[in-house]
Amino acid sequence: MSENAIDWGQVKEWDEKYYLHVLKSQGEYGYVPIARTEGSYLYMPDGKKLLDFSSQLVCVNIDQGHPRIREAIKEAVDRYGFVWEAFCTDYRARAAKLIVEDLLGPDGWAGRVRFSNSGSEAVEAALIIARLFTGRPNIITREYAYHGWTMGAAGCTKLRAVRSALTSPEAQEIRDVPGFNHASFHFVPAPFCYRCSLGHTYPSCKQPDGTLACIQITENIIRTLGPETVAAMITEITMGGGCVHPPLEYIPQIREMTRRLGILWIDDEVMCGFGRMGQWFAYQRYPGVTPDLMSIAKATTNSAIPIGGVVLSREIADFFEGYRWWSINTFAAHPIAMAATCATIEVMKEMDLPAVARRASKMLEKSLLELQDKHPCIGMVAGSEGGMLWGVEMVKDRKTREPFVTEDRHFLPAGDLKKFPNTVIRDKCAERGVLAGGVFPNTLRLAPPLTITEEELNQGIEALDYAFSEVDKMTKEGKM
Ligand SMILES: Cc1ncc(COP(=O)(O)O)c(C=O)c1O
Repeated sequence: MSENAIDWGQVKEWDEKYYLHVLKSQGEYGYVPIARTEGSYLYMPDGKKLLDFSSQLVCVNIDQGHPRIREAIKEAVDRYGFVWEAFCTDYRARAAKLIVEDLLGPDGWAGRVRFSNSGSEAVEAALIIARLFTGRPNIITREYAYHGWTMGAAGCTKLRAVRSALTSPEAQEIRDVPGFNHASFHFVPAPFCYRCSLGHTYPSCKQPDGTLACIQITENIIRTLGPETVAAMITEITMGGGCVHPPLEYIPQIREMTRRLGILWIDDEVMCGFGRMGQWFAYQRYPGVTPDLMSIAKATTNSAIPIGGVVLSREIADFFEGYRWWSINTFAAHPIAMAATCATIEVMKEMDLPAVARRASKMLEKSLLELQDKHPCIGMVAGSEGGMLWGVEMVKDRKTREPFVTEDRHFLPAGDLKKFPNTVIRDKCAERGVLAGGVFPNTLRLAPPLTITEEELNQGIEALDYAFSEVDKMTKEGKM
């Protein structure tokens, strides 16, 4: 059906009546119709365009609807209805080779990849593989972690607000999901230096040998459990959901500690992978650091088709050689997703996407630091050099770092959220045709497409400037 032939009044009625909406109660739901997407923009039926400063869920790394990816999908639809994983398609073989050999080959660790349909499934697969390989049950994760919503992935997710709970718009009421298995998922502090859970200040938190305090407590917890009971520690490099950018020493120290204690390290690159952090994968920022297992999803197909995957180290892949793995996932390595994966990686390689990200990151970082100079409500601008995933911590008082919402990352999304600084930023940016926001009340997550132009970036920054002015004004007037 052509865009013009759509009856949007009917769409609204059916959407409001039949779809089970998330994040808002059905009564609060605000219909935002999108007729099509192109480049860095979403287009509404009335022609209004919205600049996407979040790349949706930080998953559309290059232009929306890239013609090469579109064509590859069309070609695959013409050739295949469906075949499951027991049969090999040329697309699957090529996608596996592109990931294991072309993107990861130079680092010398990757052995094989298995595909799935989402980031959560990728994490589930990594957890199952880690437990099968080691024969151990326990998993180490971190406060503020987000690794997905299925049982195992949700076990690793320690942000309570996003573990599929129900909250009430009227009262501070929360219904956690009964029966979620948290018993074998143990959490340790996040490397969040701005508000250290251990009360330290970076870099004075370091011990004489340079070990960070959060690494020391992590090791203590693993030793308390017994390393021989721990299959793996799972981390992202930058915590995309929790918006935590670790100090430079952190990931190398995690890798050294996990090797020394004989436990696996799962690097969850679902959000940080495919150029987002200025390298193909974010671990490549640290020379000599390689994971045992790596989960991927989101930008693997530029989100044009659902995808997930787990990459196994050579050692773990060798272990699997001698076994039959009785694991069935109907849509794993779906031919259309594999075709989209091949086209996406080929396009990203041709444009040297990590270099594109690094250029855009420089512009974004500079603009955000300028905004910080201008707006007292910006307590901290956080990010990694070369990356396109930046966080802004909003505070009542820059000197004392007093947050607007004291619960910060532990907040429950219940009751009235209208006066949260992030809600104000979202609404003010929307007035200027820009989509920007974040998960937590005080923290803005900015992750535009890596291919954003300078002009588009300036449009986003001007909208943010306008929005931060409103937060400053409301703070001054005691309204927040
Ligand atoms: C780091 C990380 N892991 C896993 C997931 C889950 O991915 P999905 O939503 O595709 O299941 C996400 C989603 O945002 C993520 O950011």
